Amino acid sequence: MSVSTVHHAYNEVVADHYDLDPQGIIGQALDRGIGQLEAEGLNDPGRRWRVLDLGMGTGLFLGKLRGHAGDRIEPFGIDLAENMLQVARRRLPDLDAVVGDAGELDSYFPGKMFDCVCTHFVTGFVPMTRLAPQIARRLESGGYWSLIGGTKAAYPGLQSLGNSKLLRRLAGAGDRSMDDTVLNPANLEEVARTMEAHGFELCQGETFEPVLQFGNFDEFMEFGYRGGWLTPLLESMGLQKAGPIKKWFLNRLAFPLQDKHNIVVALGRKR
Ligand SMILES: C[S@@+](CC[C@H](N)C(=O)[O-])C[C@H]1O[C@@H](n2cnc3c(N)ncnc32)[C@H](O)[C@@H]1O
Repeated sequence: MSVSTVHHAYNEVVADHYDLDPQGIIGQALDRGIGQLEAEGLNDPGRRWRVLDLGMGTGLFLGKLRGHAGDRIEPFGIDLAENMLQVARRRLPDLDAVVGDAGELDSYFPGKMFDCVCTHFVTGFVPMTRLAPQIARRLESGGYWSLIGGTKAAYPGLQSLGNSKLLRRLAGAGDRSMDDTVLNPANLEEVARTMEAHGFELCQGETFEPVLQFGNFDEFMEFGYRGGWLTPLLESMGLQKAGPIKKWFLNRLAFPLQDKHNIVVALGRKR
């Protein structure tokens, strides 16, 4: 998936809706990431944290960190989508952020080192293997890599709908599969292996599997399209333009649907 497709999706479609967090999963996952940092001393008075959030979106995580550690957090960010960053800047007026590609981290904030680098729901766009060496170069030793992201085991219900030729045709899926468009790691073990291979030890890790309820096609689109979870994929299928007849068929054939996400929440420490 091209950078311009991803940029368009987040800049034009998602930016105004992202914080609504339909089904509450972004908030719950980020809270787990906060919990991992708390166990590593986030709340220690006097300890300062320079935190760089890659693909920071609307700044939800940095905002939560501020809620816990106040001015001891120095917030930095990179995101492709200027409209997502605009929301983040309203949330954190002292944010030091640039519009850019997280996969080119070496080019940004030259000479600056960080105590924590975050990649949250962005490793489906920029693979861990590309991020890992660049993150390692920008962390102080003992610094943390907070990774939160979907895995290839996410959405088993939607993935099995993809086995129906009729539904694929109706939905405009063509020969796309979720794996083609999402570079996510397979599971926590792959995250741990990739971190280890780049000089990190996994200090904490868990897999979060929240249940998803889609009563009908519109609820699914609220989550998957405007909510930002599958926006570039759904847009490439043209599902946002579905008319009443297509929606009627999709509602008959695919909804209501109960599904589940599969999200790794991991904290690595640079050796
Ligand atoms: C699902 S949102 C996650 C936002 C935020 N990290 C969070 O957890 O709430 C994905 C974000 O990554 C950004 N993004 C996608 N690809 C990117 C890239 N190559 N470089 C920088 N940002 C990227 C998108 O613009 C979007 O804001």
